[in-house]
Amino acid sequence: MKFFIDTANLEQIKDAQDMGILDGVTTNPSLMAKEGITGTDNIMKHYVSICNLVDGDVSAEVISTDFDGMVREGEALAELHEQIVVKLPMIKDGVKACKYFSDKGIKTNMTLVFSAGQALLAAKAGATYVSPFIGRLDDISTDGLNLIAEIRMIYDNYGFETEILAASVRHTMHVIDCAKLGADVMTGPLSSITGLLNHPLTDIGLAKFLEDYKKGN
Ligand code: G3P
Repeated sequence: MKFFIDTANLEQIKDAQDMGILDGVTTNPSLMAKEGITGTDNIMKHYVSICNLVDGDVSAEVISTDFDGMVREGEALAELHEQIVVKLPMIKDGVKACKYFSDKGIKTNMTLVFSAGQALLAAKAGATYVSPFIGRLDDISTDGLNLIAEIRMIYDNYGFETEILAASVRHTMHVIDCAKLGADVMTGPLSSITGLLNHPLTDIGLAKFLEDYKKGN
């Protein structure tokens, strides 16, 4: 299972990268705005800074909603760095643009996916990643994890190679449940990754080991 971090915050990206367990980064316009990164030039530079911090794929989202605009933006993003994955919205022109980029060998991530049917379209268009938003489904009393299970079944039925990137992950149990269901990738905040470290018995056990070592020395 790949671990992506869902942020545009360079410190948090570096923190996860330094742990040695990070496989990539996902961003979106809201995450960029949260870091105060505005204006096309600054946003483009920030993507390059992220790519220079990590080894894996970095999803960069287009803001156009028409095919020509998505192609223009996606090509500029892909030119920035070899690690860039063009992130496209799950709308008709997004599917068309996904097929266009897949045919050119440019990696894609279909975002804002909330149904199995949308995930099927993403796979048909040759998406590298499909991003079902599980937290936002949970927010409206719909089981986000069930969507991961449905997509896993559909993709396995036909051998689709599109990777299921569980997105809108909010906490550690989402990560664990996605791993049980066979999601290929999860993307979440740093806390959803570092939270996996925590267990009181680890802390108690370590304190006891250190105490006993001191007694013998
Ligand atoms: O990866 C998608 C993500 O950025 C959305 O997360 O927590 O805003 O639903 P959230």
